[in-house]
Amino acid sequence: MLRNSILVTGGAGFIGSNFILNWLRAGSGGDAIVNVDNLTYAGNLENLEKISSDPRYTFAKGDIVDRRLIAEVLAQHAPRAIVHFAAESHVDRSIHGPDDFIRTNVNGTFSLLEESRAYWNELEGEKKRDFRFLHVSTDEVYGSLTADDPAFTETTAYAPNSPYSASKAASDHLVRAYHHTYGLPTLTTNCSNNYGPFQFPEKLIPLTILNALAGKPIPVYGDGKNVRDWLYVEDHCEAICAVLHHGRIGETYNIGGMNEKTNLEIVDSICSALDTMRPNDSVVPHSHLIKFVADRPGHDRRYAMDIGKIKAELGWTPRHSFETGIRETVEWYLANSAWIAGVTSGSYRQWMAKQYSL
Ligand code: NAD
Ligand code: TYD
Repeated sequence: MLRNSILVTGGAGFIGSNFILNWLRAGSGGDAIVNVDNLTYAGNLENLEKISSDPRYTFAKGDIVDRRLIAEVLAQHAPRAIVHFAAESHVDRSIHGPDDFIRTNVNGTFSLLEESRAYWNELEGEKKRDFRFLHVSTDEVYGSLTADDPAFTETTAYAPNSPYSASKAASDHLVRAYHHTYGLPTLTTNCSNNYGPFQFPEKLIPLTILNALAGKPIPVYGDGKNVRDWLYVEDHCEAICAVLHHGRIGETYNIGGMNEKTNLEIVDSICSALDTMRPNDSVVPHSHLIKFVADRPGHDRRYAMDIGKIKAELGWTPRHSFETGIRETVEWYLANSAWIAGVTSGSYRQWMAKQYSL
């Protein structure tokens, strides 16, 4: 048994793998990490190659719906906290097929909560007092804003509009109920759109980079004026650590980049970065590849986060500007062609054909 450890779910995905790499790089006060992930199409152990033989890291392949497995991992590793990332995370996939979203995001979170409650009930003293269940969620649970609406706060009423956001909202409610009813020491974070290394290229930013490099059309939904708030993934990981260590039990914290942009602005900034870095690509300027395509059904118009609470209570603010973050991200994809080749084979091609007829 590892003496001080935390259990991470979904640690082979985009944010989870960045979180694990950052945690172990920062020293983490000696805490080890156990990563439970069932390696869906979005889970990739190559993300964690650098630390795969680190003695502080253990991988347990498994499904969070599987209560017996979760109970065994908790008994074996006796973690002081759980950081719950595992989810189906792509809105477009949730529109094509919501089943997996309900299964993992709702039933999986429920299984994890039930086993955490049983585990926590048996703890004693400091170990019981200090245990935390941190649930990682999204700004999408709050629904859609108009151009003039104020940003979401932690007290904004939930109004999810996609099967993805509805399943995340359901999981947030379960977490809330487990604190309120059973006293489980929970924390919830709701974050805006992340970008950075290791993001699966079904999401807007890596999809744009890869298509632009390949001289393929860059699909922009509708009029391209939907607004998202963007945060560099490392900043999100630091915010989660701040909430885990200093957040008030039972509370939720909004996390965001104070960086609202239309999708067209995002795509344009990637294209101009590539014009400088890759002046000899087949299509330059890369923006000539932009192609307006049919809108996403039920497409939320705007998300924006008020991060006053986490700033005031925990002193967290994002460290990366969008300009530095996007440059680092584009450079990372340019430098990691083997990783890209690994994730764009097989099922990825099927997804692209289904979603874009590309
Ligand atoms: P991702 O899709 O890249 O990774 C999800 C990971 O969970 C994968 O490794 C996958 O294998 C694993 N997983 C899925 N189902 C599982 C199951 N049943 N059992 C065990 N593991 C399972 O997702 P991400 O972008 O890293 O998002 C992580 C979390 O952060 C999610 O809960 C998501 O809702 C939330 N979030 C994401 C963003 C974003 O912009 N990506 C923003 C805010 C919040
Ligand atoms: P996405 O990266 O899927 O994140 P989310 O839907 O969780 O915000 O999409 C970000 C925005 O980009 C969203 O408004 C939809 C839009 N988008 C496109 O215009 N084209 C695309 O091919 C994709 C994947 C997204």
